Amino acid sequence: MSERLKDQIQRQERLHNPQLGIQEDFDAVYNRNEIQIGSPAVLADRLTRFVRENSVAIIGAQLGDEGKGRIVDNTIQNMLGIKGVKMIYVVRFQGGGNAGHTVENDKTKLALHQVPSGILYPEAVCLMDSGMLVNPENLMHEIALIEANPEVGDTTDRIILSEKASLTTPLEEAKELFNRYVSTGAKGGTGRGISPTAAGRIDRTGILIREFLAEDWRGKLGKRYERYERMFEAEENLPPLSEVETPDFYESKRQGKAVQRKIGTKEEFLDRLEAVRDWLISRDMVKNVTSIHQRHIQDISKGFIFEGAQAVGLHPWLGTFPDVTSTDTTKFGIQTSTGVWKPGQIEQSIGVFKATYTSSVGSRTMPTEVNNGWAKWVREEEREYGTTTGRPRDILHLDLPLLTYNANMGGIDVLAATHLDIAREGEPIKICTHYTDSNGNFIPYQPDLEYLEKVKPHYIEVPGWDGMATREVNSFDELPLAAKQFLAFIQWRTGFPVIAATTGPARENYIDF
Ligand code: IMP
Repeated sequence: MSERLKDQIQRQERLHNPQLGIQEDFDAVYNRNEIQIGSPAVLADRLTRFVRENSVAIIGAQLGDEGKGRIVDNTIQNMLGIKGVKMIYVVRFQGGGNAGHTVENDKTKLALHQVPSGILYPEAVCLMDSGMLVNPENLMHEIALIEANPEVGDTTDRIILSEKASLTTPLEEAKELFNRYVSTGAKGGTGRGISPTAAGRIDRTGILIREFLAEDWRGKLGKRYERYERMFEAEENLPPLSEVETPDFYESKRQGKAVQRKIGTKEEFLDRLEAVRDWLISRDMVKNVTSIHQRHIQDISKGFIFEGAQAVGLHPWLGTFPDVTSTDTTKFGIQTSTGVWKPGQIEQSIGVFKATYTSSVGSRTMPTEVNNGWAKWVREEEREYGTTTGRPRDILHLDLPLLTYNANMGGIDVLAATHLDIAREGEPIKICTHYTDSNGNFIPYQPDLEYLEKVKPHYIEVPGWDGMATREVNSFDELPLAAKQFLAFIQWRTGFPVIAATTGPARENYIDF
């Protein structure tokens, strides 16, 4: 790269320190008459990436539940091993309290919903960024459960919430039920108020976390309650708002099953929120997270790991509508959430995928879904049931058209395979390689259910391997031959390097290639 070009690119980085070099630039232009503008070479080269070392994005490359929490965990461990890295920011940049991520080390296991997966590491600070839809009441209980774990203890100062994140309350959860009722009734959603909260960001009726902390919060939320109360009153088949039942996070956790609770009267609703607001204020965890990025983006002793939730296949536009979530699940969501990071600046974007199968939640039927003995075996083996709902997840054969599309559209650079232990010696694995139409002509993947209903998936069968044997393995070379061939085949067909695999639930069941 020429010196001039390097200089040009570095100048783009002036965004983060505009105070530097003002006089030099002034002298160049006004005193030395160095006037250059619109050089095609420079314009073309502006596309060249300025890569920020020690920054990684973890993105779901299928339909959610791929095991992103695990990969975040292993990535933290790898990054802490890099010379000079002293601490790591783990950033959740979208989504809300969905099914969540599971992380574990040799001593403990945590089910996380809103808190980023870095919390098991004392060197990690977890940022809940502005693209998140945050239910502070559930967050309060989630943090209490995390801190009750003797392996974690106090996390004050290690969980920071953006003042610009969107506020979710039981009202948004109720609105999700309302929307479901007035639309087809079939349209999904996890009942966590994700879509109404995201809609509020777009139609500007939403409330930000900092507005919840402002003096006039009670008036604002009280009015919102009244508005929703009228909305429910107008639908004769729906109960009054106070009787509407939404998920009770605390009791669901305590009892280990889905428990609902009534929203209650306006005063009851507001009093509950007041206790939550007092807790938020006493923890002093709400900050200007944009400033944290601006301060540290150029300090490579601080690692940044961006933890995606859901998956590219659930993106509102790149997923299969209406079984989609409401925030940007791709690498590009990092830009809108942080307001600081350019997607091309992130050193590596890892797409996580389930190696030998795919799971799906929702009313959709994807082309490779199956309901046979193999699917039942996978479901039992890997407990493919909703974490809180207990609902069985659909099981699909590995769908390469879907995976390749998602990797391309999600801004993914490389892939990490999970669940490589889900295979049996002597039992072939079916991989969907491509689709054809009813005339047998090749057709590409499109994220549209009506389109996908008409495609015919084509499969190739490859040899299975002893899944349990992979758990003891520490390197690619030690893997059974069939597992190595399988990964190489995926890399070859998708065009994305496969750089790691997990072979079981424990932190050690992980291989870097
Ligand atoms: P929402 O994000 O709660 O609105 O859910 C919308 C849809 O996204 C659901 O019906 C599911 O199909 C899917 N979804 C959301 N979260 C998850 C998840 O954690 N795992 C798998 N699917 C999910």
